[in-house]
Amino acid sequence: MADIAALVLAAGKGTRMKSDLVKVMHPLAGFPMVDYPVAAARVAGAGRLVLVVGHQSEKVRDHFAGAADVAFAVQEEQLGTGHAVACASGALSGFGGRVLILCGDVPLIREQTLIDLLARHDERQAVVTVLTAHLDEPTGYGRVVKREGGRILRIVEEKDATQEERSISEINSGIYCVNGDFLFEAVAGLSNDNAQGEYYLTDIIRMAADRGFHCYSLPVGDPAEVMGVNDRVQLAAAAKVLQSRINEALMLEGVTIVDPAATYIEPGVRIGRDTVIYPGAQIGGATEVGSGCTIESNAVIRGCRLGNGVHVKTGSIMTDAVLHDAVAVGPMAHLRPGTELMAHVKIGNFVETKKIVMGEGSKASHLTYLGDATIGSNVNVGCGTITCNYDGVNKHQTVIGDDVFVGSDVQFVAPVTIGRNSLIAAGTTVTQDVPPDSLAIARTPQVNKEGWKLKKK
Ligand code: UD1
Ligand code: CA
Repeated sequence: MADIAALVLAAGKGTRMKSDLVKVMHPLAGFPMVDYPVAAARVAGAGRLVLVVGHQSEKVRDHFAGAADVAFAVQEEQLGTGHAVACASGALSGFGGRVLILCGDVPLIREQTLIDLLARHDERQAVVTVLTAHLDEPTGYGRVVKREGGRILRIVEEKDATQEERSISEINSGIYCVNGDFLFEAVAGLSNDNAQGEYYLTDIIRMAADRGFHCYSLPVGDPAEVMGVNDRVQLAAAAKVLQSRINEALMLEGVTIVDPAATYIEPGVRIGRDTVIYPGAQIGGATEVGSGCTIESNAVIRGCRLGNGVHVKTGSIMTDAVLHDAVAVGPMAHLRPGTELMAHVKIGNFVETKKIVMGEGSKASHLTYLGDATIGSNVNVGCGTITCNYDGVNKHQTVIGDDVFVGSDVQFVAPVTIGRNSLIAAGTTVTQDVPPDSLAIARTPQVNKEGWKLKKK
């Protein structure tokens, strides 16, 4: 079987987005919209991809900079979909396999649908196979004109259609499978003699039919798949569909999502069974959550790895952190990149961490900043503790051994090392290393001036 290539049309500006950012780069569930058709084409077997770019082409190029299978074709002026494909003929010159044509602004297309489209194309020995949809309200789309037996004769754009053609409910999705050798030859011969003065890609169907080549359609079961995003209302609608797909897949794998309509999980996040997720949670990036975890309301988790039985309480935010089994965090804790919490660590409210490792069973239950620190196991960090890690120029390390008890309101002026099993008295500002098994205390002795208040009067 010949190879598969994919062309993704993404040169349009997206005027109706009313944005400084080109339409196909607008994020949908955490990723630029154009990522979705690209990903679907890859899964369907496309070994090479060509993106037709125009407006802000450098933004799209930069985004795919690391992708060896993606090439670009620039369409300087948007003269129509047929012209866009013609612009890509250099990038795919000599390619005789099947070409999937997708739109950068039709992100909900499923990989399985593209696989089905390719299968239909082969089965019917077609030259062009069009993905279509039956719509009750077909206004605005190209209509699919067929003859007996289901072969497509042509696609007529709404603006060029007769009254009778406008009553056809089968519409062109703008997604196709076309034989490469025919495609590039055909688009080179298009004219723009139509209502919009554009080079219509859809005219290749009439050209194929005239030569006796077979053109067929594959109607999608779910018209949402071919929904285009033209403005921000449709962007939100597409996000909703994507979100419900992601959440449904997770629920079917054994994750409880209390209110799927209010739970925002990006594609690529993995979550184990019997984890419960409450409304308002946002989980994104390359996050992995184990089984039996509880993620409470409004938790924001990005790029984190959570073991089993982890409890993330309301309003906690974490980025690029690792939480081992049975860790509890929050409410309202902030774990910044480089945080690693070993099993059974407890982080309470208003605690911020950054670049720390905290050993098994250690606790920082209230109002604390721990940055650039290595903390042993079974350490108790009292309320109000601060690692003073920054001297205005450099960051310094705090090292705390196992079984240390840190009283409330302690400052560690780093660099400083606390030996194991020591006790730091409440209110101490630690400026020197503390040997193991010691008491460190540094406070101004208290003075009581009796009757002072009465005398003032
Ligand atoms: C096109 C189809 C129409 C179909 C509809 C589905 C044609 C002539 N018509 O219409 O039958 O029902 O899609 O949404 O193809 N693009 C470029 N360069 C251009 C023009 C378009 O890259 O010069 C890209 C756009 O960025 C977009 C895609 O092609 O991603 C479709 O373009 P659009 O203008 O939306 O096509 P329609 O006229 O709506
Ligand atoms: Ca369109």
